[in-house]
Amino acid sequence: MLNTQGRPTQAGEIAAIEPATFTGNRGLDIEEALLFEIGRADATGVDIDNPTPFASRLGAHERKGPIGLPGLTEPEALRHYVRLSRKNYSIDGGIYPLGSCTMKHNPRLNEKMARLPGFADIHPLQPFSTVQGALELIETLARALIAMTGMSAIAMSPKAGAHGELCGMMAIKAAIAARGEAGTRNVVLVPDSAHGTNPATAALIGLSVRAVPAGEDGIVSAAGVKAALGPDVAAIMLTNPNTCGLFESEIVAIAEAVHAAGAYFYCDGANFNAIVGKAQPGALGVDAMHINLHKTFSTPHGGGGPGAGPVVLSERLAPFAPTPFVTRDGNSRRLQEHAQGSQSFGRLSAFHGQMGMFVRALAFIWSHGADGLKQASEDAVLSANYIRASLEDLMSSPYGDKPCMHEALFDDRWLKDSGITTLDFAKAMIDEGYHPMTVYFPLVVHGAMLIEPTESESKASLDLFIMTLRDLALRALRGERETFLSAPNLAPRRRLDETRAARQPVLKWTKPAPA
Ligand SMILES: Cc1ncc(COP(=O)(O)O)c(C=O)c1O
Repeated sequence: MLNTQGRPTQAGEIAAIEPATFTGNRGLDIEEALLFEIGRADATGVDIDNPTPFASRLGAHERKGPIGLPGLTEPEALRHYVRLSRKNYSIDGGIYPLGSCTMKHNPRLNEKMARLPGFADIHPLQPFSTVQGALELIETLARALIAMTGMSAIAMSPKAGAHGELCGMMAIKAAIAARGEAGTRNVVLVPDSAHGTNPATAALIGLSVRAVPAGEDGIVSAAGVKAALGPDVAAIMLTNPNTCGLFESEIVAIAEAVHAAGAYFYCDGANFNAIVGKAQPGALGVDAMHINLHKTFSTPHGGGGPGAGPVVLSERLAPFAPTPFVTRDGNSRRLQEHAQGSQSFGRLSAFHGQMGMFVRALAFIWSHGADGLKQASEDAVLSANYIRASLEDLMSSPYGDKPCMHEALFDDRWLKDSGITTLDFAKAMIDEGYHPMTVYFPLVVHGAMLIEPTESESKASLDLFIMTLRDLALRALRGERETFLSAPNLAPRRRLDETRAARQPVLKWTKPAPA
């Protein structure tokens, strides 16, 4: 079978639909070959003299022939990368409703600030006297995060949410060891709706996981936690708002029970964007919580990075925070490796965090102000509820019609007997020009569809999104199965074999044999 470029289709790839064009392009959607396919040995973007012959010292290691790198002129190379960049779906291009990921607008002001040479061009090993402004920014942001969360201390170095979990749990482990209970307290309670990084973190530091089931209403009950607590429990890792988009309403009672049992309360604060300015984790009894700066306070987020996951700590855990700390001597700031009375578990990472993320987060915080941050949380929740309420007559919600927090969760009961799955529905959204929502997560909900619109979207944007989903849902309910089963029909690539792509990725280009 040939695809529109006249190349044989890869296994698992369905040929793009007709009409095929001579170039393989679809309007301005340009087919892009690999650099190796468009490059040639005799082309180059630079004009340099041949080196004067010299005696090689490589001996038997000397290269025997050309290494086969593709040569391109500068415009060819530039166009290749620009065309590739246009294939990215981005928040700058349209609503990005990926639940649990908080894909929101990155104000250009933040980007401008992050690119200031005094922040963007510094090196972590520069003398402190030359990075005073950067250290002041880190300290100022740290103070703002402590104030917002109502906690006592903060570790700024974690480089993502999952890294923050590692940091917080290592502080908890160090605190338990300091109490002489390292050998006996080695279980972490994790609700079954948790993000996969939670149990992974516990396992990574040698603790075992005990699952706590959420109730029929999607909420973890204090009674359920009490039943799972024991003298072997080191901590609970609880996400709030949770991955079902619900506020853990029994959180205070859970914190009290956990503390009474001698354990610590780690809160996964990845969804802090729903409660900034509304609730303080410190007042809820949290001992450690990471904040995904790259979600709550903007920052381009995706592709595995970059990120920043500072961890706020309670007074009890503050002495165990990782080094280094920003300290001040008069007006001069420095990073200190050891602090008086510290029982730090040591360094978490090579340097002190992600400067670009710190600048963006502080710019977001300052430009919004306390009232603006609170409004952003309220608007994020309002947007999600608007979507939920506008779709609930067609699509089923696992926890009934009660209000959600920042993300609206649907299951696949409404598709029962239609022959259409959550995946088919998500793929059909691509034909409509939308990036699909998060699907099949959280795992506790069958055929989950998790939609997080964030506060960025206007009512007009939400309305169009809702109308599109309603139209698709009606088509599914009318039994227009074929549209869904073959979707996406209008994308340059159709459905790929995602399992094969994940398990047997082809990462190496092999030169085709001469015809
Ligand atoms: C609930 C929850 N916890 C933890 C994480 C991990 O954060 P990161 O991707 O920054 O490592 C995420 C990521 O989106 C999340 O949604």
